[in-house]
Amino acid sequence: MKQRIENMDLKGKRVLVRCDYNVPIYNGKILDDTKIIASLETIRYLIQKDCKIILLSHLGKVKTEEDKAIYSLEPVSKRLKELLGKEVYFSHEIMDSELPKRIELMLPRDILLLENTRFLDVPNKLESNCDAQVSAFFASLADVFVMDAFASAHRSHASTTGVTKYLPSCIGFSVERELAALDRFLQNPEHPFTVIMGGAKVEDKLELIETLLPKCDHLLLAGGLANSFLKALNFNIGASLSTESGKTIEKLKKIMLTYRDKLMLPLDAIVASTYDENYTRYKRINEISDNEIITDVGTKTLEKYKTAIRESKTIFLNGTLGIYEDIRFSNGTKELFNALKNSNAIVVVGGGDSVSAVHNLGYDEAFTYLSVGGGATLEYLSKGHLVGIDSIMEEKEIEILDV
Ligand code: 3PG
Repeated sequence: MKQRIENMDLKGKRVLVRCDYNVPIYNGKILDDTKIIASLETIRYLIQKDCKIILLSHLGKVKTEEDKAIYSLEPVSKRLKELLGKEVYFSHEIMDSELPKRIELMLPRDILLLENTRFLDVPNKLESNCDAQVSAFFASLADVFVMDAFASAHRSHASTTGVTKYLPSCIGFSVERELAALDRFLQNPEHPFTVIMGGAKVEDKLELIETLLPKCDHLLLAGGLANSFLKALNFNIGASLSTESGKTIEKLKKIMLTYRDKLMLPLDAIVASTYDENYTRYKRINEISDNEIITDVGTKTLEKYKTAIRESKTIFLNGTLGIYEDIRFSNGTKELFNALKNSNAIVVVGGGDSVSAVHNLGYDEAFTYLSVGGGATLEYLSKGHLVGIDSIMEEKEIEILDV
């Protein structure tokens, strides 16, 4: 077991907490605060321990000076203040000689959120490349480091793994909860075990597909993933999103040969058109023409997928069945969520977009577990470990160091 926050001596200490506040923000408004809520338990615990709390997070991919205008974490400090009912100070500086002095002046229970750590990525990717100087600077701000950013635990950044080289470190409550849930429900799932996957790029999910196929009984595909498999079967998928790589197509053919009994692909679809934005049609999968784009699954696919869902004892969902944000193409995802809600299976939803769909369509209470991790959840399920968690020592190692 990794070093837990409850086993650390934290009373009155300066504690650096890596959160994942990579949340959707539009015009300064936070569109989904699930990840902010996930961080509250650790913060409240540190308040009880009279700590000075310094919060770090990245937001978005910061590549240019202009990106900094859209990726400030300031709105997060305001939302945190509302949720905690307590002042949350914000520092526009991330790496500045004044920062240690500012922290020195903080009172016990004060909370300070630093600006987006990826601002240090311009121009030299110091945060994302785990720069040693940046890691040491972050560590110099505190006495203890808490890794509470499950969704960033597959990234080796200065603020995730780098800092652990220099500070006693532990995992926070949010990370502990995620690991426990994923281990409990998905390590040895009760069978029949069904995996439902949507998503744009098949290349991003190939490793996961290959890891999950031997373990699951059914793999139901949709979106760009399914399109690529259909393309490998020589169906015309029109202008739909799919892989362009011949190598990937060959790989998909092999997967289909080995796992033809487990893989389920769409039989029909709702399509849009490349030239008329008002065009939508129902099509069987062998009727799609060159200018059409698959945007949702059709009724026959839904019937087939619902049968698999009814038989299942454990279900893992990553992705949606269509472009659910457009009401014309949201039927498949809504029908899927209803079927999952009415099933007796353990249902785990993993991935930022899937969890957003669950919230936006109003199914928050319907499933067994919602994992805040996107790439991190997928990587944990396929590889069984995460670099940002690996870097936190085991309980006994810390005990030895303390002696
Ligand atoms: C996520 O939302 O999956 C995490 O915050 C990681 O974000 P990243 O893919 O930009 O590193």
